[in-house]
Amino acid sequence: MAANLTVFLSAETIDQRIQELGKQIDEDYAGRGPVYLLVILKGACMFLADLARAMKTPARIEFMGISSYGKGKTTSGQVQVTKDLDVSIEGHDVIIVEDIVDSGVTLSYLRHVLEQRKPRSLKIAALLDKPDRRLRPVQVDYVGFSIPDEFVVGFGLDYAEDYRNLPDVCILS
Ligand code: IMP
Ligand code: MG
Repeated sequence: MAANLTVFLSAETIDQRIQELGKQIDEDYAGRGPVYLLVILKGACMFLADLARAMKTPARIEFMGISSYGKGKTTSGQVQVTKDLDVSIEGHDVIIVEDIVDSGVTLSYLRHVLEQRKPRSLKIAALLDKPDRRLRPVQVDYVGFSIPDEFVVGFGLDYAEDYRNLPDVCILS
């Protein structure tokens, strides 16, 4: 694994921003709950763990597996549900928790699929957003950081399944 990693967002910077997002969610969902945090495996697991604890709004945690990436750095363009939800989201407030929005293909597909299940509301929280790469428009309601078009790893994000456990978000070159 001889690769060049440069810290782009430190663990501390990420933590501060997630605390802010938690407060923002609490304001938006005041008096409501439980909110369903619908986590997209596997990249969003670190973000979820911190976000869920940064908010005081009652939350339930559900996992969903989606894959649109092969083993490389670019999307295959084909989205697959690899693990579906075990519960109904009908009538519930749902926040999709995703690691990064890149082309937008994954989330526009997922939003379409989940809207048919009639949630009370459906929002998206993404730790990272690469707006320059968008192929499909997606409204991301809670964005941790907007970043330039660089391939990043760490804090849950992988390259061919490696680097997910790095505490910082790093540029891989
Ligand atoms: P999209 O469908 O192109 O928006 O792809 C979103 C998914 O691509 C994310 O959930 C990540 O798994 C993956 N992805 C996109 N950009 C990066 C990156 O810079 N590093 C690691 N994974 C990425
Ligand atoms: Mg992912």
